[in-house]
Amino acid sequence: VRVREYKFEVGYMKKKPDCIENSYVMGINGHFPGPTIRAHVGDTLHISLFNNISTNEPTSIHWHGISQHGTPWADGTASISQCAINPGETFHYRFTVDKAGTYFYHGHYGLQRSAGLYGSLIVDLALGQKEPFHYHSEFNLLLSDWWHNTSFHQELSLSSKPFQWIGEPQSLLINGRGQYNCSMAANTMNNNATLPQCKFRTSDEECAPQILHVHPNKTYRIRIASTTSLSSLNFAISNHKMVVVEADGNYVDPFEVDDIDIYSGESYSILITTNQNPNNNYWISIGVRGRKPNTPQALTILNYQKASISSSNIIIPNSPPPITPQWNDFNRSKAFTNKIHALMGSPKPPTHYDHRLLLLNTQNLIDGYTKWAINNISLVLPQTPYLGSIKFKINAAFDRRHPSENFSNGYDIFSPPINPNANFGNRVYMFNMNQVVDVILQNANVLSGKNSDIHPWHLHGHDFWVLGYGDGKFKQGYDEKNFNLKNPPLKNTAAVFPYGWTALRFRANNPGVWFFHCHIEAHLHMGMGVIFAEGVQLVKGIPKQALACGLTKKIIMSFNTTN
Ligand code: C2O
Ligand code: CU
Repeated sequence: VRVREYKFEVGYMKKKPDCIENSYVMGINGHFPGPTIRAHVGDTLHISLFNNISTNEPTSIHWHGISQHGTPWADGTASISQCAINPGETFHYRFTVDKAGTYFYHGHYGLQRSAGLYGSLIVDLALGQKEPFHYHSEFNLLLSDWWHNTSFHQELSLSSKPFQWIGEPQSLLINGRGQYNCSMAANTMNNNATLPQCKFRTSDEECAPQILHVHPNKTYRIRIASTTSLSSLNFAISNHKMVVVEADGNYVDPFEVDDIDIYSGESYSILITTNQNPNNNYWISIGVRGRKPNTPQALTILNYQKASISSSNIIIPNSPPPITPQWNDFNRSKAFTNKIHALMGSPKPPTHYDHRLLLLNTQNLIDGYTKWAINNISLVLPQTPYLGSIKFKINAAFDRRHPSENFSNGYDIFSPPINPNANFGNRVYMFNMNQVVDVILQNANVLSGKNSDIHPWHLHGHDFWVLGYGDGKFKQGYDEKNFNLKNPPLKNTAAVFPYGWTALRFRANNPGVWFFHCHIEAHLHMGMGVIFAEGVQLVKGIPKQALACGLTKKIIMSFNTTN
């Protein structure tokens, strides 16, 4: 077994991700985004994470899309799988990567993802194994969004009364690079008219876009992952069709499109063929969908070898960048999502469920604070991480009562809540080992006005089958007749569309405690998540440092090294 060792030092650093001076970003080892981890299936990763954050914040890092079979304590969720890592401390993450695919990692404490704490994690097939598609070479694009207000400022806004929303991001970033308020397209058209902040024309600028250099008549794989804090994105390349072959680390039945939608927490691989005029370059764009945009597109360039290029002398594409589809064309978004099917030979879902949860997503008021709630409970994480408190039966650590598994039949999802009050809570949905669990996510109208947001839901520790999407309220005993049990895609993140429902199925076969939450960081911060647990008594070898806080702190004195 191959062990790959990494030393990660997390801290703030001065950077200008979108060419604006004086930004502080949270980086790793002086890099933003953090270093790319690349491993083979079967490898063990050992990441020693040292918290060097000067502002006295704790931290933890989640390995998004990695199952953590046998190592649930390494999932990186503060208050769930481990104690947060305090400044000056080092935490040792040790886990095996068991499935090839495009993944990423990110901070899972407070709003540290907004602050810039993220990087790519790519798992290649074991040596000698072959992908079910061919390509000449590959690129990796990690997409994110960026605010000029600090994450500290954002946190204050979100928890203020009256509520202050963080607003739309100032810039979108591709591999940590963007251009604030200076359309690269407009600026590069004319060699001289460059706004002062648009310094991307000099190759040494850290905000200069990374250009994708290609040869004509080849096939390239582009890995695309979104770790945005808020934005749903659309990705397109001028003049080039793309074939989608992977979603969230699972092979899909290949399909061809002009562009893809990607929600926070998702990843895709697409194949492109460089069959266009090799004397030109082509725009690669990402733009906002699903929310009324107030953020310009992020751009970079697909450069054919013959069309000469140097960063200081960009031969700009001779046509404008792709136009991002209308933000509120949700039928278009659903049409894309409905094209995603599992590749033949992928694991099929069980035909029946043992346990079904209906989870209503609402915006609420608690003591005048704006929150998100699931079946009327807004999640507040406990002091003592669940993994330890469940394993060692510490009853006082959280509310042991069963959380609600459905919501009132009469709830009108098309109107603001009649009674907007909700409660804080920290109960756990406990499943028996190997139970088949259905989760129906039900969207609804927000607190006031006529609106319903998109929420990309992400499950830790499992992939789930996406059995279907529907409009309006889910009708038990009727809507499941249309579930796709033949070739539903396996994913770890799936969107619930405005005023609609999304049906997921998974097998509770991974001993541990797992977060299931909206991947919009501000929504999560406002309570939009629930806790799942299964087989915790089977968990062995939780390291002491994952337990050294709250009510599990004293019990670790009582055992030697194993538990
Ligand atoms: Cu990528 Cu709990 O999230
Ligand atoms: Cu959300």
